[in-house]
Amino acid sequence: GKVAVVYGGFSAEREISLISGETVHKALVEAGVDAHKVDPKSDGLEALSTQGFDRVWNALHGRGGEDGVIQGFLELHQIPYTGCGVMASAIAMDKLRTKLLWSAQGLPVAKHRMVTTGELSFDRAQELLDELNGCVMVKPIHEGSSVGMARADSPESLQRAVADAAQFDQEIMLEQWIYGEEYTVSILNGKALPSIRVKTPHAFYDFTAKYNSNSTEYHCPSGLSESEESELATLSEKAFKSLGCYGWGRVDFMLDGQTGDWLLLEVNTVPGMTQSSLVPKAAKAKGVSFEQLVLNVLETSFE
Ligand code: DAL
Ligand code: MG
Repeated sequence: GKVAVVYGGFSAEREISLISGETVHKALVEAGVDAHKVDPKSDGLEALSTQGFDRVWNALHGRGGEDGVIQGFLELHQIPYTGCGVMASAIAMDKLRTKLLWSAQGLPVAKHRMVTTGELSFDRAQELLDELNGCVMVKPIHEGSSVGMARADSPESLQRAVADAAQFDQEIMLEQWIYGEEYTVSILNGKALPSIRVKTPHAFYDFTAKYNSNSTEYHCPSGLSESEESELATLSEKAFKSLGCYGWGRVDFMLDGQTGDWLLLEVNTVPGMTQSSLVPKAAKAKGVSFEQLVLNVLETSFE
């Protein structure tokens, strides 16, 4: 059948999605699939409903593409698409509601507070820092690729970080800073692939460390023991399914260096598919080529 690779779109992650989509499209064509690129921003969405596509390979990251919105559009047009459905996509795009669901099921998350204004008073900033051990990660709750995120360890830096994050979102999460290491587990067909440990000389795995850096290290195998790896795989699959996710995705974690606990950060329901992205690396470690991965994800549209 005829496949539309939907990419680009309107979110703050547009540029990354353009690369993911190009890469996916190229692999599909090389695999002999009749694949065509559709960018909702430059082509409009009519192309999807009028050009006889049999299915959609969704490579849209962020709002409008990874949050249930395009999924709802495709449901209404009865066009099967890759990845999670409307509800799970919407929840996973929302770092706060994700946390609430996980906490309710006894899954481990870091302590957090919410603010809904970009103008935090000095006293309130101090109070929030005191409640969260003096150092926090500031996150717009509906973004990806670390857009709008910053570390803050003083009232002034917190005020600045919140003002910056407020340019992207009405709701901003302050997460207690986790001193530890970042891990990620890719999910394919509902099953965990080998974990990856990410190491960066930056304060955290920020946008530059993700896409424009030679100094980011990706360890796969990640160095966990066999039992730790299987514990992490189980936790990842549970975290994924507990949000109603299916098909493919990526679950991000921190390993708390002080307590040795795993802390869940979030699920990405349309993980990056660029050359430096994580899911292709994990698939490769399992012997799954990029082309096989892309075809495998296409299969998730049949669910
Ligand atoms: N949000 C980016 C694309 C990722 O999770 O890979
Ligand atoms: Mg994300």
